[in-house]
Amino acid sequence: MNTSPNLLSPVKLGRYELPNRIVMAPLTRNRASEGLVPHQLNATYYAQRASAGLIVTEASQVTPYGMGYPNTPGIYSSEQVEGWRLVTDAVHQQGGRIFLQLWHVGRISDPSLQPNGVLPVAPSAIAAADHVTPRALELDEIPGIIEAYRQGAANALAAGFDGVEIHGANGYLIDQFLQDGTNKRTDAYGGSIENRARFMLEVVEAVVGVWGADRVGIRLSPNGTFNDMSDSNPTATFTYAVKALNPYNLAYLHLVEPRTGDQNDLGARYFRSIYNGTLISAGGYDRDMGNEAIANGDADLIAYGRWFISNPDLPQRFAVNAPLNPYDRDTFYGGTEKGYTDYPTLSLQTA
Ligand code: FNR
Repeated sequence: MNTSPNLLSPVKLGRYELPNRIVMAPLTRNRASEGLVPHQLNATYYAQRASAGLIVTEASQVTPYGMGYPNTPGIYSSEQVEGWRLVTDAVHQQGGRIFLQLWHVGRISDPSLQPNGVLPVAPSAIAAADHVTPRALELDEIPGIIEAYRQGAANALAAGFDGVEIHGANGYLIDQFLQDGTNKRTDAYGGSIENRARFMLEVVEAVVGVWGADRVGIRLSPNGTFNDMSDSNPTATFTYAVKALNPYNLAYLHLVEPRTGDQNDLGARYFRSIYNGTLISAGGYDRDMGNEAIANGDADLIAYGRWFISNPDLPQRFAVNAPLNPYDRDTFYGGTEKGYTDYPTLSLQTA
């Protein structure tokens, strides 16, 4: 019998066999300890969610200059590598798999968050709303930024992760290079879409050099206007970017869905015929929508963000179609255990 897959069907992702297709989406929670080092509380949080087919960590800056919010963990110091080791060990002890999301915020920062209070850097000196005008990167600085991604990837390997996801979405540095609202460069990294995609592809190459393509994913948000993003022709830009990723045979492409539900928008359904590999789709899914997207072939896996915050045992709840704990927005960003490691599992609630 040929039954179509659903959220609970196993799937191959790069070199891994996952027990289900439910991904924990990358979620910034602003709870690193001093030195932006992950600690035991973070290890507990991720280990509670180890039944996900795959966990993608919160975005983690590859350099102190790539930071844009308070208390986000880094992946550039030896203390951070040691801290992440607590997390990866705890997740592996629970039988899970965990990729680190590699991050540089570019212009979405502020001198108060930068070493020595310098200006944040970006492809061009164009400010996002409510942010300072960044400093445009000099051409000869770009290899150093690529190197920071490569070093961050090498640090993630040393910290015991199973792979990495390159954060190319949501208006951060890679996205700032891709889209022409933020990239007015006239050198090899700006102008044509070939040039605007160059930075992303150089990051991909550097990271693949560390991990091998079958343990590297990338996240893009072709419809996103978050962080004041715009492009004069998103369809052309992202069609080119996605096609350019095909030859790398990455573990996956992770797409943030448009919120409109319009099938002509640049979501997984649109890119399915353009991208040759495994697709993860994120954004606004509940259980039924996730099952449907997998069954009809729009995506291979579904990432859940907010529902995974409030339901550490989300796969189990989906399996028995149990009600979900509501999430508390007030504790999304920053704080301690409250709204982080204290959401109950089903077995606790029914005991
Ligand atoms: C996010 N999102 C996000 N995305 C990303 O690529 N890196 C990140 O660090 C974060 N951080 C983050 C924090 C919080 C509190 C939220 C709510 C969201 C976006 C997230 O991965 C996901 O795409 C959205 O939450 C939409 O999915 P849901 O929540 O509708 O399942």
